[in-house]
Amino acid sequence: MRAPLDGTTQLITGASSGIGAELARLLAPRAGTLILVARRTDRLETLATELRGLKPGLTVQVESCDLADAAALGALVSRLPPVDILINNAGMGDIDLFERSDAAKTDLMMRVNMTGLVQLTRLLLPGMVERKRGGVLNISSGFGMTWMPGFSVYCGTKHFVTAFTEAVRLELSGTGVVMTQSCPGPVATEFEAVAGNPTGTKIPAFLEQSALDCARQTLGAFERGRAMITPGFWATVLIGLGRMTPRWMMRLLLARGGRFLRSKTPA
Ligand SMILES: NC(=O)c1ccc[n+]([C@@H]2O[C@H](COP(=O)([O-])OP(=O)(O)OC[C@H]3O[C@@H](n4cnc5c(N)ncnc54)[C@H](OP(=O)(O)O)[C@@H]3O)[C@@H](O)[C@H]2O)c1
Repeated sequence: MRAPLDGTTQLITGASSGIGAELARLLAPRAGTLILVARRTDRLETLATELRGLKPGLTVQVESCDLADAAALGALVSRLPPVDILINNAGMGDIDLFERSDAAKTDLMMRVNMTGLVQLTRLLLPGMVERKRGGVLNISSGFGMTWMPGFSVYCGTKHFVTAFTEAVRLELSGTGVVMTQSCPGPVATEFEAVAGNPTGTKIPAFLEQSALDCARQTLGAFERGRAMITPGFWATVLIGLGRMTPRWMMRLLLARGGRFLRSKTPA
């Protein structure tokens, strides 16, 4: 089952930067209507102008919405035309020792990464099933399959997205609607600026993928109706190795990372 990307109405959350903005740029030449959702409306308006320039006649709808706010999300859906393609990309991280992390920030992260994604999917999926056509793309993470000290709540939210996507995909079998997830490794976006970096550790450049490459590979997999993609060669290798490594060995290796994080985090 292929995701119908040509001439359809497509909604992208988190389109104001990073992977979401690149997904919008790649989809603009093919979509009939693009609906861009995030909180920073000025960024969305600038992107909308760029996209209309890419494809004259493209309808671009800018929707300012805090996806952590259930009421705002309900109001957003009431303003929408029938949506054929939903891309749940919006998300945020937090890098810290769990017991010292900011409770308000982790709560926001859980609401954006999990609750908002589930609510939006719940509101838009029934129409797709009824019309027997559509697709949902969830941007999870390599941390949806493994874990790392400093990323405890983020990893938890992405494990949720991974399991949720796998299960709903099975339920959609035979309906004409496809659900795919992308599990990227490190991607050069504004993610770190939001998540923080208490140890100042730099990711080796060869491991980091550009947002455009990540978006391109992700869309290719979505269009082919694949269940999951880990975009990028190194992300695929490292996530694959992580999944093959016995848990006891992972615990042993990653405990060093936990001690390093604690040594670098002021009490
Ligand atoms: N970068 C990586 O290394 C990496 C790796 C694996 C997975 N991912 C996942 O990829 C997705 C995109 O992240 P990115 O890397 O492109 O980061 P990014 O550049 O920081 O983009 C995050 C997007 O999410 C939106 N967003 C955050 N909180 C929101 C809220 N409360 N309401 C509405 N929109 C909200 C932001 O828009 P506003 O701030 O304007 O609202 C922004 O457009 C996320 O789900 C992330 O977990 C990223």
